[in-house]
Amino acid sequence: MPRISVITGSASGIGKATKELLEQRGERVIGVDIHDAEVLADLSTAEGRRALMDAVRKVSGGRIDAIYAVAGLAVPGPATVSVNFFGALATLEGLRPLLAGSDAPRAVVVSSMAALMASDEELVALLTAGEEQPAMARAEVLAKEPATGGLIYCSTKLALSRWVRRQAAGPEWAGAGIPLNAVAPGVIATPMTANLIATEDARKSLLEVVPMPLNGIADAIVAARLLAWLNSVENTHLCGQIVYVDGGSDVVLRGDSVW
Ligand SMILES: NC(=O)c1ccc[n+]([C@@H]2O[C@H](COP(=O)([O-])OP(=O)(O)OC[C@H]3O[C@@H](n4cnc5c(N)ncnc54)[C@H](O)[C@@H]3O)[C@@H](O)[C@H]2O)c1
Repeated sequence: MPRISVITGSASGIGKATKELLEQRGERVIGVDIHDAEVLADLSTAEGRRALMDAVRKVSGGRIDAIYAVAGLAVPGPATVSVNFFGALATLEGLRPLLAGSDAPRAVVVSSMAALMASDEELVALLTAGEEQPAMARAEVLAKEPATGGLIYCSTKLALSRWVRRQAAGPEWAGAGIPLNAVAPGVIATPMTANLIATEDARKSLLEVVPMPLNGIADAIVAARLLAWLNSVENTHLCGQIVYVDGGSDVVLRGDSVW
């Protein structure tokens, strides 16, 4: 029987590349997105998250092998809070029971190297506390100024990376035999970044903020291959890691400060 994987954000960019890669390898992929997907679900709402659970349970027959929480938004507003953080958690926690019947259950989420950049302490605290409405209200305030609007995306990714670190070794994940990890890409050429990398000047400015000395901006397949390995049968012991696939941004920005 082929492995059954669920991928959110499967209609575009990294999610789409991951879906295509797994399908080429003979896996059964249940794609989830707000458009062009087998399961249509809006992860920014409670109804959409419920629809995701119900539809995946139905089409999978109640057993899946891997969860890829890839869907995300980079707009400076509250929707980014609900999709990037609460939508990702709902995907991972909501679908986790369906992993119970798998011989090799796996889960991965896409964070970002943006977690290393400036964030809003108050928003990160609200996310960490699981306070969705207050977090969205905080994002509304931050969105009023361009200078603070940019903190929203970075805050969601920082909180997401921390959540993975806090959860992965616990009873629900490692304790249930499920490796839970995150991938933190640098700049990947997808519709999300299209405007930011449309011209040589724009690319140059972006790479000053997100330095990528190893091979520069990457295609979506680069992140897809790493995601696929983290959720493969081969990955038996990687637990709670935030794996940077960023052409070197993490090492340039953080150096050896983490060791
Ligand atoms: N592209 C990059 O440089 C980059 C870098 C670091 C992290 N990421 C992260 O990678 C992930 C994928 O991004 P991408 O670059 O492929 O972007 P993308 O815009 O190409 O794809 C994102 C997908 O998520 C879906 N999505 C958005 N809101 C949704 C919702 N409410 N419900 C369900 N699906 C929804 C979109 O419809 C889209 O198909 C995101 O989490 C993003 O934050 C991207």
